[in-house]
Order: sequence, then C-alpha cells, then structure tokens
Amino acid sequence: MRCRRFWCVRVPKERGESVRGALVEMGVFQRDAAVQRGGDYLYFPITGEINVGELAEDGFSDVKLLQRDFEYTERQTFENILGFTPSYEMIGDIAVIDSEDPDAKEIADAILLMHKNITTVLGMLGPVQGEFRIRDFCVLAGEPKTHTVHKEYGCRYEIDLARVYFTPRLGTERKRIADQIRSSDLVVDMFAGVGPFAIPIAKSAKRVVAIDKNPVAIKYLERNAPLNKVGNMEIICCDVRGVAHGLWHIADHVIMNLPHSADEFLDCAMDIVKPGGIIHYYDIREEDDLFLGAHETIKHAANTCGMTARVLDERIVRSYSPHQSNVVLDVQICPIAR
Ligand SMILES: C[S@@+](CC[C@H](N)C(=O)[O-])C[C@H]1O[C@@H](n2cnc3c(N)ncnc32)[C@H](O)[C@@H]1O
Repeated sequence: MRCRRFWCVRVPKERGESVRGALVEMGVFQRDAAVQRGGDYLYFPITGEINVGELAEDGFSDVKLLQRDFEYTERQTFENILGFTPSYEMIGDIAVIDSEDPDAKEIADAILLMHKNITTVLGMLGPVQGEFRIRDFCVLAGEPKTHTVHKEYGCRYEIDLARVYFTPRLGTERKRIADQIRSSDLVVDMFAGVGPFAIPIAKSAKRVVAIDKNPVAIKYLERNAPLNKVGNMEIICCDVRGVAHGLWHIADHVIMNLPHSADEFLDCAMDIVKPGGIIHYYDIREEDDLFLGAHETIKHAANTCGMTARVLDERIVRSYSPHQSNVVLDVQICPIAR
C-alpha cells in the first residue's frame, strides 16, 4: 500500500451510495484507492478534478470537491512495467510474441507478471512455413514447452505449437461457420489441423469428415474429438487429393482453410461439394482486390465442372500484413441452368 494525494468528493454518509453510483457512471471513481470515513462524511477518491455541478444537478448539492491523501494499491499494467503495451497472443497457458522485437525478453517477463495463468512465453522464429503450415519457436520465459490446451467457445484443443498449425485469431470465424450448420448436414473439412473448425461443427452436424496430411495434427485431432465428446467424425490422415474423388458430391459444406494455396485444391472441393452445397473458401488477398479475384477463381473452377458459383457472403476475417487480409468467401455451387 502507498499513499497519494487524490481529488475526492466529500459526501454525507446517508448519500454515499447514490453519489458513489453517480461517480461510477461518470467513469471517474478511483478504484485503486480506499474510500475514507470521517465524522458524518465519506470521502470518495476520483480520477481527476470534476465539475461538482454535474453531481449537484443530480440533486447532490451537499457534496464538496477537495484534495486528500489516500492509501492506494499500484496496479500492474504493461504501461508501468514496460512503458508501452506489447502485442501478443495467448494460446492456452502459452503466450506468443515476435522474437525479433528488441524488447522481446522484457516483454516476455512482463507477460508472466501480468498473467498468472501464463506459464510459458514463446518467441516466433519467422513465419508459418511448408505444407503443414508450422513455425519454429524459442522459449523466452517460463517453462520450456510448446504443448498446451486451448479453450474456445466451450471446446478444448490439445496442441503442440511447434508441430501443428493453430491460431486463436480465427475463433469468431469458426463460430460463424459452426452456427450455419444444420443437424442433417454432412461437412468435409479438407485441411482440418487439430480440429478447431471440425469439432464445433460436429456438435451440430450429422457427420463430419476431417482430413489433414500432417500426422501430428491428426494425432491431436484423434485426441481432441473424444476430449470434446464428438463421436460423429471420420478422421483421415492423407493428402486430400488422394481421397476427394471417393467423397464424390457428399458435402453440404466444405471448409477450405488453406490460405495461400486453397485455389490449387478447388477441383477437389468441386468433387466433394453436393450440388447446392457451400464452399467456405479462405484466402490471403491484397487490399486493392480483396474479393473479386478470388470470386473469379472459384467461378472458373465451378464452370470447369459444369457448375456455377454464387457468392453468399464475403468477409475480412483478420488482417494478415499491413496490406494483406485473410478473407473468406461463402460460395454456393449449383448446376448451370440449361
Ligand atoms: C492453415 S492450416 C489450418 C488448420 C485448421 N483448419 C485450423 O484452422 O487450425 C492448414 C492445414 O492443412 C494441412 N494440409 C496442407 N496441405 C494439405 C493437403 N494437401 N491435404 C490435406 N491437408 C493438408 C496442413 O497440415 C495444416 O494442418
């Protein structure tokens, strides 16, 4: 506890509750300092000088503004530890930051101080790479590990960040897709990873087929399905190209979360989607052509199979780089009317 001089409002005890409520509503109540009592008065510390007239107009004509010393607890903030607020992601009990930040070590220590639930801070060593879309990490602070359990919208995912792809930044998008699924739907997730699309979808769908080429991602998906009480999922470890033809026109929804190269797999998606079904197509696009180019690519792929592509929705999911965005197009694939 420390002592500091604050502006405060002196108020007769019997009016304490209503004045306190008014100060909270005005956003000026100083929560870090202890309210004082003296004689028939209460002293409410506030964040700065205010116009008592505002309170008086509300009927508090007997309140007085003055300065007084209060005991207060200094709250830890990034601002007072580091002098700035860093950017970081939290995945389960691991925080992830950019290892190239010159203040990386200080930021990592500050994160451990600020978040009691974080046990490890990892530094990203470069971008996600390769077919499996994984990246290397270094341990900057805390326990040396890359394995965690992440919670999202009531589901839990076991993940090894160094061996599988995962981002918490698509949580809202995954919920948006899961909310579209009906109990009669069959859904194919072509690039399922550890299951953050497939698992919540399986809770609403009749059946889900989840495919991934990374055997480690599949190992985690096989654990994550029962962890979330999902029993209606077929899990396939292989290149989607090898199984697409065997899933001929079975899917009401196809999830294509392989930004950068989903276009190379549109022929597989056309094999899998039912006439009238929907493809959820993810892409990384430049700011000067967010959707049109992707729409043209899907339209071309559909036309090649004697189908049409109707865009039902197009959205920016998240920013990817200063001039690029991760976008999604929900596209219905229908036979061409003759
Ligand atoms: C961007 S990650 C998305 C994972 C998951 N959908 C998610 O949101 O966390 C793409 C995934 O596709 C898998 N993948 C890449 N090429 C593939 C292919 N040809 N066939 C099947 N899976 C593939 C990778 O292993 C990776 O797990």
